[in-house]
Amino acid sequence: MLILGIESSCDDTALALIEENNSNIKVIGSITSSQIPIHALFGGIVPELASREHARLIAPLFDKLLTECQIKLKQIDYIAVTRGPGLLGSLLVGVAFAKSLSLANNIPIIGINHLHAHLMVAGLENNLTFPSIGLLVSGGHTHLFAMHSPINMQVLGKTLDDAAGEAGDKFGKMLGLPYPGGAYLDKLGQLGQIHDIFPRPYIKNNNLDFSFSGLKTAGSAFLEANPSAVLPTLKIGEKYDELFFENAPQITKDGAASYLNAIAQTLKIKTERAIKSLVEQNIYPENLVVAGGVAANSFVQNTMAEFAKSHKIKLIIPKNQLCTDNGVMTAYHGLLLAKMGLKHDLKLTAIPRGKLIPNDYM
Ligand code: KG4
Ligand code: ZN
Repeated sequence: MLILGIESSCDDTALALIEENNSNIKVIGSITSSQIPIHALFGGIVPELASREHARLIAPLFDKLLTECQIKLKQIDYIAVTRGPGLLGSLLVGVAFAKSLSLANNIPIIGINHLHAHLMVAGLENNLTFPSIGLLVSGGHTHLFAMHSPINMQVLGKTLDDAAGEAGDKFGKMLGLPYPGGAYLDKLGQLGQIHDIFPRPYIKNNNLDFSFSGLKTAGSAFLEANPSAVLPTLKIGEKYDELFFENAPQITKDGAASYLNAIAQTLKIKTERAIKSLVEQNIYPENLVVAGGVAANSFVQNTMAEFAKSHKIKLIIPKNQLCTDNGVMTAYHGLLLAKMGLKHDLKLTAIPRGKLIPNDYM
């Protein structure tokens, strides 16, 4: 079975082809076009520009993928497309493109939950058994899931305001780093010392939700008290390279390390609480999956590795290209659902962030 995956939920236009042959799954090709250079000019994602870019790029990228993989349209057996959650205008481009391919070529279509796909792709290169616990940490989402099967994913908790990635990006912006600042903050933090100067936000409760707005406020207060931590703007010819990070003030490096550690510890505390609540219901998670762009963060990775070791649970973090938005995860989750005999028809709708995604497979 050859599956096309289409992802356009945020600021990446991504397509991929994966094939299953006698239970052997192979990525035939994957293409991603990032819109970061456009949105960086505005310091964050501009939804209208994002959908226009998807509309401009999706058909040429599809042609490029088929040409590079030497695949003909009629060879595709299934189309999997991200239906939500995400920016509605962006999702609509991918869903409309998928529907037109489906209608014109009589190919079955299936709508994919982007959050489920982020976590399920952990099974592409690892033995993902169920039940598992899933922590999805990206620029737009911070969710804890009990993963019971590819179609049974139970939300245990989620962020009430900013996502973990957003909290990092906003502190990065306050420090003077370009958007998105998360990866730069990580580079700075790796050169710094952790001090206990930031709160682990929203943990003094019994629930599994997150709230990172308090941490952001603490970040702003830290910079007010330590203005020398704010980085100078780049001089002509200067780049955000190793030298730039090495030359940054120690207070900036320590601030980055302490801030990222506060995020990682908060994620750990709530993950530990989630596992405990499942065990109390006699559900014993076999793996801890950590996915999404923030799973690439070294503080999150180290904290979760230590946590998994001490709790004797297997940690699965998909490789970086599969952690950030990509078409492979959409195609792979589509494959899992197609094998269960599920699909949608042309009534498939796109669902924006904050709205419940219906279980309306056929
Ligand atoms: O999953 P993703 O590519 O896109 C979505 O938001 O869906 O995640 C992007 C987020 C951004 O907030 C980015 O700053 C963050 O992941 N990120 C990182 C690192 N790499 C990416 N944050 C901290 N450390 C990193 N190494
Ligand atoms: Zn995502």
